[in-house]
Amino acid sequence: MPTQQSEPSSGTTGPFALSRASVDDFDEITHVQYRSFESPYIRELFMGCRTEADIPRLVRHFAATAAADPSDIWVKVFEVATGRIVAASNWKVHPNAAAARTALREKPASWLQGEARARAEKAYEAIEEARRQANPEGYVHLHICFTDPEYRRRGAGALMMQWGCDLADQLFLPGWIEASPEGNHLYRRYGFYDLERAAGGLSGTNMRRDAARSLTYGGKES
Ligand SMILES: CC(C)(COP(=O)(O)OP(=O)(O)OC[C@H]1O[C@@H](n2cnc3c(N)ncnc32)[C@H](O)[C@@H]1OP(=O)(O)O)[C@@H](O)C(=O)NCCC(=O)NCCS
Repeated sequence: MPTQQSEPSSGTTGPFALSRASVDDFDEITHVQYRSFESPYIRELFMGCRTEADIPRLVRHFAATAAADPSDIWVKVFEVATGRIVAASNWKVHPNAAAARTALREKPASWLQGEARARAEKAYEAIEEARRQANPEGYVHLHICFTDPEYRRRGAGALMMQWGCDLADQLFLPGWIEASPEGNHLYRRYGFYDLERAAGGLSGTNMRRDAARSLTYGGKES
């Protein structure tokens, strides 16, 4: 069984706050995302971005996905003093087996063409297949997660993980992440463990977190 280390703390005070993100935040969020993922390969594959000039198209892509995908949820972490967004994450919540089965298939950015498109389609297909195989029942999927390089190791990622794990536990659902080696450190702190090597030629692992089994006691003695 995986061992769970003590989780970083979160509470009602601190320099950062977490809230649900809206379409109005997507421009700022995608700029942070671009800075956060430095690999040109990852930028092209998952963001359709060769340069910063592609960011507006990615903003529209995220807005269209949010409008079409009922499982789609973005949360942001902002610096309380400035309002600046320092981290964000995209979650796909599939509350039961029917939702998992009918989850929308993820598509590469529509503007990717030629070899880049073929590469992305192949990778997405393999990643999606592994995800579906491992998750026939409901699950909470951490799809995208990043913290601005200037704000790392200050607990922004932890805030988002606490939120997502609390949500999964409330719903008694397992968690799922296609994790980068860097993200793996953070996710382990929240009870995720390596299930298998990542599909689609990625360097990370697929990580799972078991569903909560805790019971809630209550009521009054007669
Ligand atoms: C992974 C990432 C989101 C972590 O965000 P973060 O805000 O820096 O994380 P936190 O400060 O909340 O870290 C909480 C704990 O996770 C662990 N952790 C986080 N990053 C770590 C790292 N690079 N090395 C070792 N442990 C790490 C630590 O235990 C840390 O607690 P500590 O700082 O008190 O030791 C950030 O490094 C990032 O955006 N990386 C690039 C994009 C990426 O790979 N994202 C994941 C895609 S699956």
